[in-house]
Amino acid sequence: MSTKPATNGHVTPTAILHRTPWRPPTAVSAEGMYITLDDGRTVIDGVGGAAVSCIGNGHPEVKKALKEQVDKMSYVYNMQLSNQPAEELAKFLVESGNGAFELCGFVSGGSEAMEGVVKLARQYYYETGQLKRTNFIARQLSFHGNTLGTLSLAHHPTRRAPYEDILTHSCFHHVSPAYAVRFQKKGETEEEYVERLRKELEDKFEELGPDTVIGFVAETVVGATTGVVPAPKGYFPAMKSVCEKYGALFILDEVMSGMGRMGTLHAWESFGDGAAPDIQAVAKGLGGGETPRYAAIGAILMSKKVADGVRDTSGFWKHGHTYQANPLSCAASLAVQKVIVSENLLENCRTQGAYLSSLLRARLQSPNSLAAPFTFDIRGGGGFWGIEFDFTGPQAASVDFKGKSFAMLVQAKCLDKGLVAMGLTGGADVSGSKGDHMILAPAYNVTKEQVGTIADLFVESVEDVLKAHST
Ligand SMILES: Cc1ncc(COP(=O)(O)O)c(C=O)c1O
Repeated sequence: MSTKPATNGHVTPTAILHRTPWRPPTAVSAEGMYITLDDGRTVIDGVGGAAVSCIGNGHPEVKKALKEQVDKMSYVYNMQLSNQPAEELAKFLVESGNGAFELCGFVSGGSEAMEGVVKLARQYYYETGQLKRTNFIARQLSFHGNTLGTLSLAHHPTRRAPYEDILTHSCFHHVSPAYAVRFQKKGETEEEYVERLRKELEDKFEELGPDTVIGFVAETVVGATTGVVPAPKGYFPAMKSVCEKYGALFILDEVMSGMGRMGTLHAWESFGDGAAPDIQAVAKGLGGGETPRYAAIGAILMSKKVADGVRDTSGFWKHGHTYQANPLSCAASLAVQKVIVSENLLENCRTQGAYLSSLLRARLQSPNSLAAPFTFDIRGGGGFWGIEFDFTGPQAASVDFKGKSFAMLVQAKCLDKGLVAMGLTGGADVSGSKGDHMILAPAYNVTKEQVGTIADLFVESVEDVLKAHST
């Protein structure tokens, strides 16, 4: 037991090995976008946990669907029996791709989804007799999950560091991120930048042997490593063209950016220039965090090409977990998806997201704003926004964070003031050692007034931290 007090001062002992160097306060209840803590305070969730909660907590339709499903049937094992909510959710997901997808498989979260993607992609070539294909090409400054397989696939040095020596290196290779504000060269046009990245991928195929490559894997909009970074225009079609040229698969990780988060159900529809993947992972917004206890969920969507490759040979997915496709997860997830449609929430997500970004830009980047000299970039779309700060400019000497990370100080200050926001570090260079960014990702049903509150609390927190650390 640890009696280290939580950051809100509460001292109930904890037997949890927490994921943060500090002890987080305990949440006791939640409704909509508001979460009540054990000290009685209520905070507003400006980031949906980790871009998970897309219709807030406790939506009546989802509660009803869950209760009905509990009364009907809570569990069957998918190697013995399928179930109606899983069949219905799979149909919804396949149809949502407008022809891009043929079949779907379920898992219990994002890392499992990406593990499943890696295995399905290999299974496809195994079944179709292309046994030499063992290499994946992913990107630096990416995140695909916290299992050993997905840490090997992705590349963020500080996240990998403790495990580097037990990761798989032989099958996982990396090319540059598509992160224009940091890595596009001076004088290079967007087209030239995309062409440089396309060529780098093609060179990597050549280096590995094009007939050894299983696929290229990328987050459609990068989430946790670099903080909501959409790719430059034309990037995904260019990368897909390389995969097609060499008979490899084009694979997208939409665990964070998918299921409506970017204002379209699939992020590639809007932020990938329509480049549909051969395989895609979804998770967070799929269950919407409505299903905390029984119903963590993720899914893998595959094109007809991949489905046929497997269907025409063994005919089944050589992969699985005990809780995948369980009726409660699927019933809750289906209810979340129905609410998004019936309440027209993708439109609200786009509208309120645009409003949030306009408030942030006006308050953080206007010439007389305190934060302007340090606000490097505000980017994103739909309900997913990243704010990147930089302390290398001429005014950097005017603040001193005494070795602490600005983003984490802002995250803590936000929570003090009643806002849940996400701070992240190490996204500004490929060594993962520099950079401060924050993510805001409110639920799709956020109101204009709530957006105003989120922006107010966020900007005040940024300014408070700057003032408290001015030299
Ligand atoms: C792009 C991406 N892939 C995979 C994952 C892993 O998902 P999970 O935390 O549900 O295992 C995440 C989580 O943040 C993610 O952002």
